[in-house]
Amino acid sequence: MNNPISGFYKKSKQEKIEWLRKHYFQEDADTLSVLESYWHSDVEIQELHDEFIENTVSNFYLPLGIAPNFKINGKLLAIPMAIEESSVVAAASNAAKFWLDRGGFRAEVLSSTKNGQIHITYSGNKEDLQQFFETHKSEFIDAISEIQKNMKARGGGLLDLKLIDSTTELKDYYQLHASFETLDAMGANFINSCLEAIADAFEKLAEKHTSFIAQDAFPYVEMSILSNYVPECLVRAEVRCKIADLAHGELTGEEFARRLTRAVNIAEVEPRRAVTHNKGIMNGIDAVVLATGNDFRAIEAGVHAYACKGGKYTSLTHASIERDEFRFWIDVPLALGTVGGLTSLHPMVRFALNLLGKPTARELMEITAVAGLAQNFAALRSLVTTGIQKGHMKMHLANILNQFGANESQKAAAEVYFKDKTVSVKAVKEFLEKNA
Ligand code: MEV
Repeated sequence: MNNPISGFYKKSKQEKIEWLRKHYFQEDADTLSVLESYWHSDVEIQELHDEFIENTVSNFYLPLGIAPNFKINGKLLAIPMAIEESSVVAAASNAAKFWLDRGGFRAEVLSSTKNGQIHITYSGNKEDLQQFFETHKSEFIDAISEIQKNMKARGGGLLDLKLIDSTTELKDYYQLHASFETLDAMGANFINSCLEAIADAFEKLAEKHTSFIAQDAFPYVEMSILSNYVPECLVRAEVRCKIADLAHGELTGEEFARRLTRAVNIAEVEPRRAVTHNKGIMNGIDAVVLATGNDFRAIEAGVHAYACKGGKYTSLTHASIERDEFRFWIDVPLALGTVGGLTSLHPMVRFALNLLGKPTARELMEITAVAGLAQNFAALRSLVTTGIQKGHMKMHLANILNQFGANESQKAAAEVYFKDKTVSVKAVKEFLEKNA
């Protein structure tokens, strides 16, 4: 395939598949039949999926698992998790059960403000720009009165608009920094529409502004876009218990608390460990974000930026031992929505939100932060006790057995056989050959 194609998007789904077959699969019908086998049997639901994105040829499944027994602020929840990695749902369930017996999780939204910027280049006199901004600020805000009418009626909308001088960072660079409350919506479309309308009003008024005309220096809007860095949209989740209640297997409560806290402290000071530590947290967070139809890339970008807000990448979770109490918590920025976007369109997302009792965005922030904290607790518990591979290998074995089409009795025998042996594709294959 050497020639680029133009107008691929205009082809029907069938034509797109034909084109793939012809150019990439040497007319091999079997390779492509997999695409068709993943179409939804209900034509309308398939059409819905086709229209989520462009050039859709099939669906890409992820398993949806349920982690039950999460007690959050006194309420018992079963959390939906969409994730391909084995052990994550099991780990979440184990952590939920562990803390269920110790009072459960507490979570609270600390703030829910989102933000966006209009990025401006201006080479003229600073004071003139400041004066222009102050004089016309109310007109910039008036420019979004229609857009924010409904949001305002519900108690949200634009909270503040500021001019920021960033010329020490970059020559001639200024920003209009806007902050918003978007209630139950993630609010990306709302924020971007507001920013573009403000930018438009800003440029139009600037063209007529006398001091800009006199200097022949006009502020130029480079771009207007929301920010996925949302340190003012923050949620805290935590667990705490008496140290004696932490006793785990052969470990005393004191020793277990010491090891967990030490593991967190290491992630707090060593970025290499912190990245993996936080990755484990994101196993829980992303799985809930995906299942509830939110944008996991936005969440990932914002969370990792937050993890280095002090100039050095560090742990999102913290732990303390004070007198006879162990406390373990996470502060994490999560701009989530429970209305708009995929939330009302995708049947599985509707299911996930119904399962969670149709949460508000704030409640979903709390649930998601708890999923992250639980995941981190489970990972650290394994790491400081048995090591991570024990649990992983069990799931790894199950996956390999499925890959070779093992039957139920072979699976049961393999589980016993591999209890004290290293799992590898080769070893499992040999085991199945001997136990055919
Ligand atoms: C694996 O997906 C996640 C862990 O590596 C997290 C951690 O090391 O804390 C187990």
